Amino acid sequence: CGIVGYVGPGTPSTRPLDAALDGLARLEYRGYDSAGVAVVTPGGLSSAKKAGKLANLRQVLAEHPLPEGTASIGHTRWATHGAPTDVNAHPHLSRDGRLAVIHNGIIENFSTLRSELADAGVPFTSETDTEVVAHLLGRAYAGDLTDAMLEVTRRLEGAYTLLAVHADEPGVVVGARRNSPLVVGLGDGENFLGSDVSAFISSTREAMEIGQDEVVTITADEVRVRDAGGSEIQAPRFRVDWDADAAVKDGFDTFMEKEIHEQPKAVADTLLGRHDEDGNLVLDELRVDESVLRTVDKIIVVACGTAAYAGHVTKYAVEHWCRIPVEVELAHEFRYRDPVVDVRTLVVAISQSGETMDTLMAIRHAREQGAKVLAIVNTHGSTIARESDAVLYTHAGPEVAVASTKAFLSQITACYLLGLYLSQLRGYKYPDEVAGYLDELGRLPEKIQQVLDAEGHVKDVARAMKDTDAVLFLGRHVGYPVALEGALKLKELAYIHAEGFAAGELKHGPIALIEPGRDVFVIVPTPRRPLLHNKVVSNIQEIRARGARTLVIAEEGDDSIDQWAEVIFRVPRTPTLMMPLVTVVPLQIFACALAAAKGLDVDQPRNLAKSVTVE
Ligand code: G6P
Repeated sequence: CGIVGYVGPGTPSTRPLDAALDGLARLEYRGYDSAGVAVVTPGGLSSAKKAGKLANLRQVLAEHPLPEGTASIGHTRWATHGAPTDVNAHPHLSRDGRLAVIHNGIIENFSTLRSELADAGVPFTSETDTEVVAHLLGRAYAGDLTDAMLEVTRRLEGAYTLLAVHADEPGVVVGARRNSPLVVGLGDGENFLGSDVSAFISSTREAMEIGQDEVVTITADEVRVRDAGGSEIQAPRFRVDWDADAAVKDGFDTFMEKEIHEQPKAVADTLLGRHDEDGNLVLDELRVDESVLRTVDKIIVVACGTAAYAGHVTKYAVEHWCRIPVEVELAHEFRYRDPVVDVRTLVVAISQSGETMDTLMAIRHAREQGAKVLAIVNTHGSTIARESDAVLYTHAGPEVAVASTKAFLSQITACYLLGLYLSQLRGYKYPDEVAGYLDELGRLPEKIQQVLDAEGHVKDVARAMKDTDAVLFLGRHVGYPVALEGALKLKELAYIHAEGFAAGELKHGPIALIEPGRDVFVIVPTPRRPLLHNKVVSNIQEIRARGARTLVIAEEGDDSIDQWAEVIFRVPRTPTLMMPLVTVVPLQIFACALAAAKGLDVDQPRNLAKSVTVE
């Protein structure tokens, strides 16, 4: 869910209600089942909420305007408890209607609390766990909203970010967090709360982290943070280096298209400043003792979704360069299976948002077992970044489209840097090769641009395939995770049944799916690795022999596939281990264009949320 809070005068053109709506527009990618706002005016509180996207709420507000007020809170929901209806949308109000609360997360002991309140005669209007908090806060309120929040949060179990306002305190928003994100934006005569910094980067770059179980109170001029016991503490501040303009579409039809086109820059920005003139990698920011990194005997990558595929790519590179075994595991599986982890294990957590709850729980589990955790994260001030021993920021800038693109490329790039760095630190196994790779990485932004320049061909093919109902993707070696990612993109965006396979696995089952008319993407390795290359070319022949159509991604100059492919998308010559950075790009463009041709919402596909902050 996306959460915004604001206190201040606003500007002549932007009042507190607008500040909440603007923030929500920037956070809508975090959930879009329903949206709502509450504003406080001296002596009163008004709210509005509506199922569906933010546009529906704006419509309600156009018909029934709310006062501008002095403070506001806003919420976009990704439903967990209760269907995405008007009634279940946030905010939820206390019984007297003078207090409003919004919530992200899950209150695990909500049924106990709900029965207790019901026994005390409190009527409920929704099915949500959040309404329980509204009633608890309303009952605890005795003139100080911060005190009420401190009292109520002691009783809550589970995960939450909560923001509350009360009609008796018109210039105050109070927030609290446990296992769920919340950051403060520090303005001049105005202050903000948000699920992430996108909520306020158009107004301020100065931000403050709110830690676990802390309660924050903002007014127009002041931000006070308290620990769970109520003692005031100094929260760490940071400056957001994202470009505020990065969160607007900039002439593109969708954020996703814009972000696909930002990939050369995202990769260049990930590389920026990370090696000296002699080609030595400098990752000072890592903050993990070099002796620890030298003695690591196993790496486990934990991540979810697209980030996990970035991890798959990493395995091939890091094992080859460093001769350290690398396991890649979905964070939610890792957490619940009793993994073998100890002080010599380096856990690498990859996450764009830095807030994915499954990944967060996995790193906590790893640290409890004594492992060091290194996070590869895009979002500053995020929980995973804060709770890890070391962070390598990807610097890809804000990613708004729900389906990840530039974050994926920047995650892979950061993983290469980490692999090359470990290799440097531990004594190169292949010194010449590694130096060459660093040079090659520097050339990748230009190569990605070349693939983007040829997007017209990919789009034409996608439009012509808009009625297809199933697509297969095959890849071998690093082409395998690319196949998985290509299939995921098509599922997410175009709601088409799509599956990715390791090409070698074709004959062990998936070949039964091959029939005349079936569309099969194949990612072909470079012919400079003939063993790998020839195997995949044989797969293409097997597919063709059974009447299916092959759409092939192959290196420029590789004419061995010409006679076997219906469609060829060319990518520039790139070292094998780095090919995913170019081969995935046509697949992203394909999924995006096909979904657009079907008339679907590319940036906000159904049922998904960009940042999944519940387990
Ligand atoms: C969600 C998103 C995916 C994303 C995954 C991991 O499922 O819809 O696009 O890859 O979370 O997100 P993270 O922020 O941890 O990279």
